[in-house]
Amino acid sequence: MRFLRACSVGEVALGGVKLFEGGAERIAIFHVGGRMYATQDACPHGQWSLSESHVDGEVVECALHNGRFSICSGKRLGPPVSRPLRTYAVRVEEGAVWVDVDSGAAEPRPGAPVAGEIGVSDGVG
Ligand code: FES
Repeated sequence: MRFLRACSVGEVALGGVKLFEGGAERIAIFHVGGRMYATQDACPHGQWSLSESHVDGEVVECALHNGRFSICSGKRLGPPVSRPLRTYAVRVEEGAVWVDVDSGAAEPRPGAPVAGEIGVSDGVG
């Protein structure tokens, strides 16, 4: 287990995604429905960056060949992709998003709630 600070909560807008390059592989940080999630950034089909792709709710659609994945579970949602995404454990503490860069695995994650966290790092509250 090795949690690294990926970014501040405010850097990832609701419905948005941000690239984090602090671990062995590039990681995409997603803000879905008030929770933060992390998956591998490289699409397993052709290595396109998912942080440069389209997010729609809990789904990220790869911009290169339109492969779709569940952000929360990492599951592939149809062709052309044949493999799921590795997901990562995430914590939100003191207004920052922390990712366990050693936890990458193809499994569902609960995500980390951001409620009450935005602004904490700014000394508000
Ligand atoms: Fe992502 Fe092909 S590179 S679907």
